[in-house]
Amino acid sequence: MPAFSDPSDHQAGEQALLQPPMQNTPTTLSGPPIRLGVMASGNGSNFEALATAVKAGRLNAEIVLLVVNNPGCGAVTRAERLQIPHTVIDHRVWKNRERLDQELVRSFNAVQVDAVVMAGWMRIVTPVLIGAFAGRLLNIHPSLLPSFRGLDAVGQALEAGVCISGCTVHLVSEELDAGPIIAQAAVPVLKSDNHESLAARIHRQEHRLLPHAVQLAASRWSQG
Ligand code: GRF
Repeated sequence: MPAFSDPSDHQAGEQALLQPPMQNTPTTLSGPPIRLGVMASGNGSNFEALATAVKAGRLNAEIVLLVVNNPGCGAVTRAERLQIPHTVIDHRVWKNRERLDQELVRSFNAVQVDAVVMAGWMRIVTPVLIGAFAGRLLNIHPSLLPSFRGLDAVGQALEAGVCISGCTVHLVSEELDAGPIIAQAAVPVLKSDNHESLAARIHRQEHRLLPHAVQLAASRWSQG
């Protein structure tokens, strides 16, 4: 990919490669805001990207609850600063994945969410959660699915030597990272990249893509 072999080009490359496939699908910001639940395990930058988009009027939603599984993770610090309700459901407390997911469903139902976004939730979810929010449970994954499902997608992409990678927002199905795709953004992989630099480039696109994809999905839900 000679056009992107010079690292100084990569800003332009990122722009050129931002290709949510449904970019032309009209989205509507009218109607009541959707009540959004968010799940995060770590840093929480995608959670904050959603909150920023809500505040800026780019996403017609209200984040009614953030659930984290790791007490004291970065997402909690962000939720406190942003004054967004949050709670901890620690996976170490529950005896199996199904019990953990029951707790998630209970918490989200208690605040009547319309949809749930897994914004960096580093646990495998079960049919308990998927079934409770069928067609309304979204995940963001740092690769162009269906390539590089599962753990360390960035490392997998580097190992494979691909020239383009990116991120995907998809509906969650029982097969890991395999549900219907809502939107994707692509980034160049540079010869000079290491894990950190590629992960950072993908992360920047995730922050743009996720609010866009949630709004796109919400527009479809409102159309029935
Ligand atoms: C993102 O790269 C997302 O794709 C993956 O986990 C990471 C979460 O990052 N599922 P952050 O916590 O939102 O910063």
